[in-house]
Amino acid sequence: MSLASNPSDRATLAVLGGTGSEGSALALRWANAGYPVVIGSRNPDKAAQVCARINSQLGREAVSHDDYRGAAAAAATVVLSVPYAAQRSTVEEVRDVLAGKILIDTTVPLVPPKVARVQLPDGGSAVAAIQKLLGGSVKVVAAFQNVSAHLLQDLAHAVECDVLVCGDDVQARETVIKLAADIGLRALHAGPIVNSAAAEALTSILISINSRYKVNGAGIRITGLEDS
Ligand SMILES: NC(=O)c1ccc[n+]([C@@H]2O[C@H](COP(=O)([O-])OP(=O)(O)OC[C@H]3O[C@@H](n4cnc5c(N)ncnc54)[C@H](OP(=O)(O)O)[C@@H]3O)[C@@H](O)[C@H]2O)c1
Repeated sequence: MSLASNPSDRATLAVLGGTGSEGSALALRWANAGYPVVIGSRNPDKAAQVCARINSQLGREAVSHDDYRGAAAAAATVVLSVPYAAQRSTVEEVRDVLAGKILIDTTVPLVPPKVARVQLPDGGSAVAAIQKLLGGSVKVVAAFQNVSAHLLQDLAHAVECDVLVCGDDVQARETVIKLAADIGLRALHAGPIVNSAAAEALTSILISINSRYKVNGAGIRITGLEDS
């Protein structure tokens, strides 16, 4: 399925794993904001169903799909939204088409079944490990790790939690902060890619809070910025 030409100034985004909870919700939000989105999937039938659902919801052909490599090749900014167990293999599959691009990695290194327990990998951060794997030709930015898919899916409500944006390239972080702002989220520079470890760890705390307080959208808000 190919997209019609982009009528706006918004560049195409690829969401690898965009059939899943978080990826489909981000795809929906960006498509709703006017971005052409290509969902990357291993399963064309599942991807076609997700595209049909989003396009029907929006009333236009805003989202298309391809395999992971095809989707990653189609966009200058690529979002990775697959389970931690598939993070490295997915990146390796698309590695050569990521050169010169921004990779937004939403991965949280959850280790089922104890997902409410912080279990960071050796070296500290799952996303920093991907920046190390890819080297300087790809600007990896960690973001959206603390934003509930459940809240993102509901276009009727703004998502009020903050997005911590970690990456070694300040300009790439700015790009991601704008992408978050375009879907109504406040995103903040949160330092270099190694700091992603803190955002990754926070997600297990939010899962624990969701469970304890019987909610499904716990998030974070940074205070003290009101005057800036
Ligand atoms: N769910 C949330 O609220 C949330 C919030 C913040 C961050 N995150 C992070 O975002 C990432 C995606 O989370 P999710 O909840 O959307 O995950 P998910 O629904 O379980 O999976 C997302 C997609 O990943 C793809 N995938 C690739 N390899 C896979 C494998 N070996 N096993 C299963 N799926 C595989 C699948 O797409 P295809 O089959 O179409 O290829 C699947 O639809 C995770 O790293 C998660 O920690 C999630």
